[in-house]
Parts: sequence; structure tokens; C-alpha cells
Amino acid sequence: MIKILFGQSLLFLVFRLRTHSYLGAVLASGSVDGTIVLWDVNDGSKMNVLSQENGEAVRQCAFSPDGSTIISSDDTGTVCVWGQNKNIIRLIRCHEESVHALSFSPDSNILLTGCTLGNLRLHYADVANETLSTITDPSCSIDSAHDLGVLSADFCKFIHIDPSDNKTSIYTVATCGTDHLIKIWRIFCLIDAVPSSSKTRLVPSAPQEHECGNSVILSTETMNAECVMVIPAHGSSVNCVKYNRLGTMLVSGGLDKTLKLWDIQGNCLKTLAEHSRYVNTVSWNSDSTIIASGSNDRTVIIWDLTGKHSLDANMVEASSALFNLASNHVDIPLEFICPITHELMRQPVVASDGFSYEKSAIIEWFDRGNSTSPMTNIELESKDLSENDSLKDKIEEYLKSMDFGNFSVGPDLLNL
Ligand SMILES: *[C@@H]1O[C@H](CO)[C@@H](O)[C@H](O)[C@H]1NC(C)=O
Ligand SMILES: *[C@@H]1O[C@H](CO)[C@@H](O)[C@H](O)[C@H]1NC(C)=O
Ligand SMILES: *[C@@H]1O[C@H](CO)[C@@H](O)[C@H](O)[C@H]1NC(C)=O
Ligand SMILES: *[C@@H]1O[C@H](CO)[C@@H](O)[C@H](O)[C@H]1NC(C)=O
Ligand SMILES: *[C@@H]1O[C@H](CO)[C@@H](O)[C@H](O)[C@H]1NC(C)=O
Repeated sequence: MIKILFGQSLLFLVFRLRTHSYLGAVLASGSVDGTIVLWDVNDGSKMNVLSQENGEAVRQCAFSPDGSTIISSDDTGTVCVWGQNKNIIRLIRCHEESVHALSFSPDSNILLTGCTLGNLRLHYADVANETLSTITDPSCSIDSAHDLGVLSADFCKFIHIDPSDNKTSIYTVATCGTDHLIKIWRIFCLIDAVPSSSKTRLVPSAPQEHECGNSVILSTETMNAECVMVIPAHGSSVNCVKYNRLGTMLVSGGLDKTLKLWDIQGNCLKTLAEHSRYVNTVSWNSDSTIIASGSNDRTVIIWDLTGKHSLDANMVEASSALFNLASNHVDIPLEFICPITHELMRQPVVASDGFSYEKSAIIEWFDRGNSTSPMTNIELESKDLSENDSLKDKIEEYLKSMDFGNFSVGPDLLNL
């Protein structure tokens, strides 16, 4: 563990590795004075200072995954969209109150915002086509997602396709808030014009409202949502939540000054306590061996989860360690990954919802008294499982070809 002192109170810390035009890393930090500073992590220099038009305190900032757009939010419920030239393209008034949660889906197609009234808004936005500049009404709204306030949100990298129509994209997003909870949501998105007779089970053919716990979900013809998991995470407000890049773990930071590491089934793997005030921002490096956390105690702590890196209390070394690890990572075909564990399947079985799961994971799901689909939350027609032999063969072939005898992408890689 190393600590870095910051001179100003740090509201957030966003890492972004760019791979196309510019090889390097950008770190964004924001402040109550209404500015966002973009830093070049390689040499510590300031690249840009973005000033919000109305001078309101910057609450959050996010890069679109394609690197083309930066989004920031403030206390009035407004979201600023910044273009390539670092000018404001658009101001969108999404909420009535402070917007603390901002997140893009991994394909940049969905922008999620969340406010201190507890509401989530999801906008379908083709960033590459700059449709962000034309969005008006949300594609899906979740009211009272977190009682008393949504504080952070993050999309998982996996986007599944519903096997019942091969069209509906299923995104997974984690949110957290003042209610001490982390919630995991599935977002169902169907963009293609589909005749209403063949409308899918997940996205209704006309706007609808349904309840999910205390939340009210308002869907449209293109997007719907469900809450699939509620994790009582910290004994107090959960200020930030982040998936690791592999999608196998979550880290959260709370008002209780701790960070907690979670597996995808909501089990706490580890608690990290070192900050002297509340934790308000967290970030993973790309191979999930290092976490950076920022706190109101004005420090950033770099946590080494393997116990193997020798980091020095020196920003340059720490940052190069953070980014040199980027290559140490493998992309496994999505169809080989179990939607429950987010790990490679060894015994894939097909459930009555049409999705393939790791056998032990879906059996455990049933044993815990669940009778719904882990992917869609819809009641399953039956608990019958059948082996997916063709998939099993494909996975075995893949492992052989990659020469990973006992390859694992899960938390067991780490020294937890
Ligand atoms: C932008 O939109 C047009 C028309 O809707 C579409 O043909 C094109 O593929 C889109 N471009 C990108 C980069 O998505
Ligand atoms: C979806 O695609 C798979 C593989 O291409 C095919 O076997 C299946 O029948 C398709 N399902 C539907 C509902 O079209
Ligand atoms: C086995 O899994 C693959 C990949 O998820 C899927 O396309 C296929 O339909 C599954 N087989 C059966 C019998 O459902
Ligand atoms: C179902 O699964 C969820 C998430 O893992 C769990 O919290 C819950 O206790 C399970 N059981 C029932 C009856 O919902
Ligand atoms: C893989 O795991 C098996 C059983 O767990 C063990 O016997 C074997 O030595 C392992 N192989 C490698 C290459 O680590």
C-alpha cells in the first residue's frame, strides 16, 4: 500500500487508457470550484482544464469508452457533454438534484445518470454519431433506485444477447447509494424496429411501469430494467462502486472509511481499512491487481492486491506500475463466461430461460431458494438443466489452443 497526498479535496479520479490516437493514460480530477483537470499520467503534466459554464461544483466525470466524449455533472442536475476539442457540446438537464452517478455502457451506447433524490435515468446515445447532442427523454427511468440518493454507478463489460430473440442486448450495471446498498441491475435494450407481434419477453411493446422492491421502473419501447441483486454493503452510505476490467469483482468505498471487495455473487472477499475519512472514489488497474482509492482525508491510496508488486511512494513509479500491467490480460469469448460467476465455464448447462450457466453456480442459485432467471429475473418455467455439450467442447478446445491448463479469471488469482 502506498499513499499519495493531494492538495485539494478530491471528488473523483477517473483513469482512462487510450489506445488509438494517443498511447498513454489520462487521469481526470474534479473539484468544487467547477473545474476538471485532465492529467497526463506518464509525466504528471496538466493537459487540459475544463471549466463548467455555470461554475457549479463538479460532482462526477466520465469518459465514453471510445474516448471521444467527456461527461461531467453538477449540483443542479445538469450534465455537460464535452467534445473532442474540450468544448461543451451540450448541457442536458436530466435531474432535479445533484448528479453524483455517471456511467457509460462498455459500447458507449447507454449513458446512465443518478441523482441525490435516488433516481436513475438511462439514455440511449450513439456517442460515435453524436446523438448525445439530441437526446431528450430518457429511454428508461428508475425512480427511488436508492432511498435518499444514488452516489455511484458502473457498467460491467459483459453485454449478453437474449437467446430467445438474438436481438435484445442485456447490460449489467452496479449502483450504490445513501441506503447502504449496492444494487445490480440488468438493462434490456432493443433498438431494432421489431414488429410488436414478435416483441420480446424483456422489452415491452409500449411504455410500461413496474415496481421492483421500493423502486419504480418506467420502460419505453427500447429499454427496460430489472433489479437482480441487492447487497447490504457497508453499514453506512456507499459512495462509489467499480467493476474490475474482467467483470469478476466489484470494489466499493463507503462513509465507514473502508473499501470492500466483492465477488459477482455478492460475497465480501476483503475489507481494506486505512483511510481516516470517507472513501469517495475507487479505480482498478486493468488486470485487477491494483486499486487506487481517493478519500476525503486528501489522500489517494494505491492498494496492491497480490502482495507481489514492489511499489514505491513515488507517483511516477506508481503510475507506470498501474499502466504497465495493462497488457497482462486475456479476453475470453463471452459465450464461455458464466453470467452468474463471470468466470470461464467448465460444466455449462442450459436452463429453461435459454442461457447457459456453470452447473454448480445455477444449482447454488436454486438452492438459495431462487426460482427466477439470474439474467432476466423472470420466473423460470422449470428448474430443468441440460448439459451444453457443444459449448463444453468449444471451451475445452479453446483452453487447449491457448495452452491454459488451469486458467482462472476469478478472484482466486489474487492473494485475498
Ligand atoms: C450513424 O448513423 C447512421 C444513420 O443512422 C448509420 O448509418 C451509421 O452507421 C452510424 N454511424 C456509426 C459510427 O454508428
Ligand atoms: C439465435 O441464434 C442461434 C445461433 O445462430 C440459433 O441457433 C437460434 O435458433 C436463434 N434463435 C432465435 C430465436 O432466432
Ligand atoms: C449452448 O451454448 C451456446 C452458447 O451460449 C448457445 O449458442 C447454444 O444455443 C447452447 N445450446 C443449447 C442446446 O442451448
Ligand atoms: C436469490 O438470490 C439472491 C441473490 O443472490 C439472494 O439475495 C436471495 O436471498 C436468493 N433467494 C431468494 C429466495 O430470493
Ligand atoms: C491443474 O489442476 C490439476 C488438479 O487440480 C493439477 O493436478 C495439475 O497439476 C494442474 N496443472 C497445472 C499445469 O497447474
